[in-house]
Amino acid sequence: MARGVHLTDHRNKGWFIVTRNGQLVHATGLSRTYTVGRREIPALRGVDFSINRGEFVVLLGPSGAGKTTTLNLVGGLDRPTGGSLSVAGEVVADGSVHAKESRLNALRREHLGFVFAEFHLLPTLSALENVQVPLIWADESGRDRAEALLCRVGLGHRLTHRPDELSGGEMQRVALARALINQPALLLADEPTANLDTNTRDEIFGLLRELSDEGLAILFATHDHELAERGDTVLRLSDGVIVHD
Ligand SMILES: Nc1ncnc2c1ncn2[C@@H]1O[C@H](COP(=O)(O)OP(=O)(O)OP(=O)(O)O)[C@@H](O)[C@H]1O
Ligand SMILES: [Mg+2]
Repeated sequence: MARGVHLTDHRNKGWFIVTRNGQLVHATGLSRTYTVGRREIPALRGVDFSINRGEFVVLLGPSGAGKTTTLNLVGGLDRPTGGSLSVAGEVVADGSVHAKESRLNALRREHLGFVFAEFHLLPTLSALENVQVPLIWADESGRDRAEALLCRVGLGHRLTHRPDELSGGEMQRVALARALINQPALLLADEPTANLDTNTRDEIFGLLRELSDEGLAILFATHDHELAERGDTVLRLSDGVIVHD
C-alpha cells in the first residue's frame, strides 16, 4: 500500500469542524418512528451519543436494531422525529426544528463520506473516473487527487479497470476512495464489509483504522461482534435503544 499519501492536510477544513461542545456529532434523545399505513414503527427510541474528531465508533447491533436508521439521520438522508442532532457544526435537528434541505446537501458534500455493503459504482466508468464522480469540477487536480487516493487504498495498479474487472474488495476500495475525495470529517459506513470474505474484511477494516488514526471520524455499522473490539468506541444498539453492559 502506498503509505506516502496522507489525508491529513492543514488546509482541510473538514477535519477541524466541531460542534459547539467540541464534538463532531452530538445526538440527544434521537428518535425516528416510521409510519406505515396506520402502524407506527419506532426504529430509534431516544439515543444519546457523540463522536469526536478521529474517533472510530462501531455501531453494533442485530438486523432491525436501527443501525441504518441512525446512519441515515447522521448523514442527513432522513429526518428524526424527535431529539436533537448536530453534525459538523450544523444543527440538523433540534426538537421540531429541522435544517433546510440545502443545508443538509451542503453538509453531506463538504463534511461527510458514505460507504455501503453494496459498492454502488458506475459500471461504465473506470476506477479513476468513479472516484471523481463526487467532484463538482473534474479538473486536473481532481484527477491527481483521485489517483493519490486510489494509491492510498492500495489500488494504484487498477486505475483504468472498470468495476466488472475488479474483485469485491477492490470495488470497496474504489468506493472508499470516492467517499474520501471531498475530504470528509466523518465517514458513515453501513456494513461495508458485509459482502466480503474474512481476509478482505480485515484488510478494509485495517485501512479504515489507519484513516481514523490520521484524523477521520468513522461511524461503522455492523452486526459482526468480532469487529466491535477493534474500534475506539462501541455503541450497542438493540431494538432502537443503546444498551450498556
Ligand atoms: N423506511 C422504513 N419504513 C418503515 N420501517 C422501516 C423503514 N426503514 C427501517 N424500518 C424499520 O425500522 C427498524 C430498524 O431498521 P434499520 O434498517 O435501521 O435496521 P438495521 O439495524 O440497519 O438492520 P440490518 O442489519 O438488517 O441492516 C426495523 O424494524 C425496520 O423494519
Ligand atoms: Mg441496515
